[in-house]
Amino acid sequence: MLNDYRKDLENAKYAVEAQGLVKTFGDHRAVDGVDLKVPTGSIYGVLGPNGAGKTTTIRMLATLLRPDSGEAKIFGYDAAKDSQIVRQLIGVTGQYASVDESLSATENLIIFSRLLGLSRQEAKRKANELLEEFGLMEAAKRPLKNFSGGMRRRLDLAASLIAQPPLIFLDEPTTGLDPRTRNQMWDTIRRLVKSGSTVLLTTQYLQEADELADRIAVIDRGRVVAEGTVNELKESIGTSSLHLSIQNNQDAKNARMIVERVLEVQSAVSPEGGMITAPMASADRVTDLLVALREEGIQLAELSVQKPSLDEVFLTITGEGLNESQAQLHDQKGGNN
Ligand SMILES: Nc1ncnc2c1ncn2[C@@H]1O[C@H](COP(=O)(O)OP(=O)(O)O)[C@@H](O)[C@H]1O
Ligand SMILES: [Mg+2]
Repeated sequence: MLNDYRKDLENAKYAVEAQGLVKTFGDHRAVDGVDLKVPTGSIYGVLGPNGAGKTTTIRMLATLLRPDSGEAKIFGYDAAKDSQIVRQLIGVTGQYASVDESLSATENLIIFSRLLGLSRQEAKRKANELLEEFGLMEAAKRPLKNFSGGMRRRLDLAASLIAQPPLIFLDEPTTGLDPRTRNQMWDTIRRLVKSGSTVLLTTQYLQEADELADRIAVIDRGRVVAEGTVNELKESIGTSSLHLSIQNNQDAKNARMIVERVLEVQSAVSPEGGMITAPMASADRVTDLLVALREEGIQLAELSVQKPSLDEVFLTITGEGLNESQAQLHDQKGGNN
């Protein structure tokens, strides 16, 4: 069935082309006009905090939820009008809930394979191959109900790969996983793309997007607030981030101005505790900054240079911290998932 569409897929520049997607739940606009363009053959990261609208966006792209307005094209096919075709072109993790919790991992994978039309022998081979690849061999014979969260996640991804869909949606594939399992997932995702698939993944971790994604869309409260290659995004937020606090509070304003001048940033943010935070193009700038501060006789209490966190990305892009943003989300919604 897939072969009928292969040619179109090869010709399609974009695996995903979404315009103006909107989804409102009650009076809350969970997705508020999202545009996305995912180049075919790439890994695309949708980065955002809890409640930003990532899952809702994916569900609309994957034909699982109808947008209130806007449109989504998957390899040129309209997700609403050509949903039957689109469904054959995509894999969504989380969609493959287990067939039977009392069956083993192997048995579940074999059933999926059989459902997709593989012969008994092919199904068995495929199941073993995937279990091996995902490091689930030891657990292969155990019933699913005894699987840990991480094992389930891997089995879920394995199941979604049986059909080798051209476009794979991974919704927070590594949230809550231990570092070793997370690294395995990253390797698997990279291999998927090497073998020809396009991957759209959502994440709450800047580091994950940085590791994996060719391009990133930063999403906040249902809107794309920044988009570009990882390098473009890094240039806008700096590759490192400066945190400094000073001894005398009366110097705060002056210190902040010096930081802005020396680091050439629009606005260094000084959140609670008198800590000044600013993105830095390069960690070397710290020397210039120290000299400038000393010339002005400003004494430091503390200074550190760190990799920017997701929080700082938001701070830089929206001028507002993630916590403030989430607090507002709580006010609006009385909670989030
Ligand atoms: N089925 C639903 N009904 C009502 N509100 C929803 C529903 N799904 C999501 N939301 C709300 O929409 C917002 C975005 O949710 P979601 O897309 O799950 O965000 P994310 O995946 O980025 O955490 C949240 O405020 C969430 O509570
Ligand atoms: Mg989600």
